[in-house]
Amino acid sequence: MERIVEPELMDDPLQARAYAEADFDRSDQAFTERFLGLLGQPFPRPRPPAPGSAVGNGIVDLGCGPGNISFRLAAALPRARVLGLDGAASMLALAAERQQRHPGEWLQLHFLRVNLPLTGAAPAGVSPAGADPVAALGGPFAAVVSNSLLHHLHDPQVLWQAVGQLAAPGATVYIKDLRRPASAAAADALTERHAAGAPAVLRRDFRASLAAAFTAAEVEAQLARAAQHWSEAGTHGTGWPALTVAEVDDRYLEIHGRWPG
Ligand SMILES: C[S@@+](CC[C@H](N)C(=O)[O-])C[C@H]1O[C@@H](n2cnc3c(N)ncnc32)[C@H](O)[C@@H]1O
Repeated sequence: MERIVEPELMDDPLQARAYAEADFDRSDQAFTERFLGLLGQPFPRPRPPAPGSAVGNGIVDLGCGPGNISFRLAAALPRARVLGLDGAASMLALAAERQQRHPGEWLQLHFLRVNLPLTGAAPAGVSPAGADPVAALGGPFAAVVSNSLLHHLHDPQVLWQAVGQLAAPGATVYIKDLRRPASAAAADALTERHAAGAPAVLRRDFRASLAAAFTAAEVEAQLARAAQHWSEAGTHGTGWPALTVAEVDDRYLEIHGRWPG
């Protein structure tokens, strides 16, 4: 089926609230366990770092929404500094609400409103205008993760360039998203299988997300283009790595690898 884009930001307060209240427990836990396996323990890594391992304890979660993944990572890795970035104020308000329920418990977890792409200027309110946006966010980061952001982006290169900008040498990269089914009938069947009991707004969003998602072949092509842009820019210290693209279960794609050290 042809890709049908959906709005990038989930900034409608009702939509954001429905998303935050939905039960994504199993998929969020699967994401977290898979990432922890790829990251390897202990984290932060002991110094001096092994060849190819990133220095630092920062993890950035791109398109963090209400923080489903960010909170899990912060809980699993108490010595990590976790930064969740999202462009939607409604989502970040819900993340802040969750964080404030247990003040003093999430000292290493921060959320920031950043609408990707990460352009030359630092995000508003973070540091003086004109500062390096990556440094302003506390990067580069030892790990870059993202769950369910890619399918929202009208231009997928926005994600790949942000990954390249934010990853430290040796960083672990883990991206997961839906993949687009072959036909509208297959998308309907997946919606029936996985969202039949969900509120109408979530069913609608799930169906729309399937239609907006990419196939594995499209992501492979995106990565080839990202590598080309990266080398043409010529201003980066490292080459573009070979990231693995794999289909998982009946509806997901994962992309992972390690940034060159
Ligand atoms: C489906 S939600 C995923 C939220 C979260 N990662 C999770 O796993 O629950 C996608 C999020 O990406 C955000 N988003 C979409 N486009 C964005 C952009 N260009 N910059 C920053 N955030 C964006 C949306 O606002 C939304 O919160």
